[in-house]
Amino acid sequence: MKTLTIIPTFNEIDALPTTIDRLRAAVPESDVLIVDDNSPDGTGDLAEEMRDHDEQIHVLHRTQKNGLGGAYIAGFHWGLARDYQALVELDADGSHQPEQLPALLAALDQADLVIGSRWVPGGSVVNWPLHRELISRCGSYYSRAMLGLKVRDITAGFRVFRRSTLEEVDLDAIESVGYGFQVDMTFRVARQGKTIREVPITFVERTLGESKMSSGIVLEAIGNVTKWGLSARAETLARKVRSFSQ
Ligand code: GDD
Ligand code: MN
Repeated sequence: MKTLTIIPTFNEIDALPTTIDRLRAAVPESDVLIVDDNSPDGTGDLAEEMRDHDEQIHVLHRTQKNGLGGAYIAGFHWGLARDYQALVELDADGSHQPEQLPALLAALDQADLVIGSRWVPGGSVVNWPLHRELISRCGSYYSRAMLGLKVRDITAGFRVFRRSTLEEVDLDAIESVGYGFQVDMTFRVARQGKTIREVPITFVERTLGESKMSSGIVLEAIGNVTKWGLSARAETLARKVRSFSQ
C-alpha cells in the first residue's frame, strides 16, 4: 500500500533529524511529507536539506504558525492529490516511535482508521508529567461521554488513515485549530460509520525542543467537544419530538 507519513513541524530543528532517520529505517517504503509553519529556528531549511538527499522526502511550507489542524489538512490535501493509499500522522519530536508504525499499518487491513493508543491495555507513556496525563485522560473521558464514542485515546496524534476515509470527510469544514483537531477527525470518521481500531503504543516524552501545548489549545478542544455534544443531543431530541407529533 503506497504510504505517506505526514510530520507537522514548528521549531523542531533538534528533534527532526533523528525522527526522520528512525522512520526511514523502520518503514523505508513510506514517503515523508514535512509540513513546516515557517519555524523561526530554521526547521524548514533543514527539511529542504534532507529532501535534497532523499527523493522520498517532500516539504510543504506554510507562511505562519497556523496550528496542528491546518498543517495536517494541508498535508492530507497534498497526499490525496497523489496516489497514496495510507496517510500517517506522526509527531516530529520522537514521542511517536517509528518502530511501532508497522503494527499500526498492519492493523489498517481491518480498519478505516488506526489510532496508536496510550490508554488501551499494553499502551503507556514514558516521562510524561502528571498534569499532561490528567489532561489527556480526562479529555478522552469527557469527549467519549459527550460524543458517544468508544475510542480510549481520542486526542492521540499517531494515526493511520485509509485514503477512502479521508476522501469521505469534508476536510475544509474542519474548524479545529489545535490538538482538538484529533477529536474532530475521530468524531467525523465515526459518524461516517467507519471502523476505528486502537493499537497500543508507548508514547515517550520528548527530550529535545518544547511542546506547543497551551491552555488555549485545551480550551478550544473543551469548547468544541461541548458544542458538538450538545448539538448532537439537540438533533436527537428534535427527531424524537417530530416522530411523536406525527
Ligand atoms: N506545522 C505545525 N504547526 N506543526 C505544529 C504546530 C503548528 O502550529 N503545533 C504543533 N506542531 C507539531 C510539533 O512540531 C510536533 O511535531 C507535533 O506537532 C506535536 O506537537 P507537540 O507540541 O510535541 O505536542 P505534545 O507532545 O504536547 O502533544 C501530543 O499529545 C497530544 C495530546 O494527546 C501530540 O501527540 C498531539 O498530537 C496530541 O494531540
Ligand atoms: Mn510532543
